[in-house]
Formats: sequence, C-alpha cells, structure tokens
Amino acid sequence: MAFVINVNGNSHSVDVDGDTPLLWVLRDVLGMTGTKFGCGKGLCGACTIHIDGAATRSCLTPIGSVEKSTITTIEAVGATPSGGKIQEAWLALEVVQCGYCQSGQIMSASALLANNPHPKDGDIDAAMAGNICRCGTYVRIREAIKHAAQSPETAGKRG
Ligand code: FES
Ligand code: FES
Repeated sequence: MAFVINVNGNSHSVDVDGDTPLLWVLRDVLGMTGTKFGCGKGLCGACTIHIDGAATRSCLTPIGSVEKSTITTIEAVGATPSGGKIQEAWLALEVVQCGYCQSGQIMSASALLANNPHPKDGDIDAAMAGNICRCGTYVRIREAIKHAAQSPETAGKRG
C-alpha cells in the first residue's frame, strides 16, 4: 500500500505495509541511515526522531500512523534553531565516543531544548532517560545541553 510521508520538508511516497516501522522506511526505503536501530523495542532511544516536534521512537511507529505528520530526522535537525545549538554544543564539548547512540541523543536533546529553552537538571534527566549510551557519555551530554541552552542561535550553519 502506498503512503505519503513528509520527512525533512520533502514528500515521499512509499509502498509498504501499514504496520511497517517508520525506522525501516527511513533506513531501507529512503536510504536515510542516520537514524539507528538499537533494540527495536522502544528501550534504547537510538531510533529517536521528531514527529510534529516531539521526540519519538521510530522503531515503534507504524508508517500508517504518520501520513499527516511532520517528520524530522538527524539529517535535517541541524537546520532547526534547537538542533543547530545542540549540534554546535556536541562538537564544542566533544560528546561523542563510538557515536552509535548519538543520533538519538541529539534528537531527544533538541526536542527538549525546543520545548524548554532553559532546562534544569531534572528536566534534562527526564527528557534523556530513554536514551541509552553504552559508552557512558551521559555527563558530557548533560553539560552539552546546558551549553546549548546558553548559546546564541546558530541554526543554518550546519544541517
Ligand atoms: S531501536 Fe527504537 S528504542 Fe531502541
Ligand atoms: S557514544 Fe557509544 S553508545 Fe553512546
């Protein structure tokens, strides 16, 4: 069955079953491999994207549920005000270790900052709790979110 979805400002028609996870559509049909597969069960956060601005696990999101939604992935989040700040902060504080979890971390962090420009530690912990990093970059992630919250807008510099 054909579904039309809006990803990063572009419309795509995809012919898949309605219960196909959006993660597989992004990666295997559209070739957008920045969004990662970790657990496939909503437990690790590696697959996090934005649906209508909210951090969402794409492994649990059926394609049939998002035709009317605006989808943003790691490939384009840097062009958003909060995503630009987060990516600049990630670089400045050298957050990344192996990198596998980091797309999801950045998507969760940028959604947090978009909704709460000055998050407190508790806000950060709550927003990031579902994103697992087996390299243990949690301390740098928290500092980078705080750094981003204090930064002037940089959206558009990268993306
Ligand atoms: S792959 Fe989606 S939460 Fe782990
Ligand atoms: S940087 Fe390696 S899993 Fe997070």
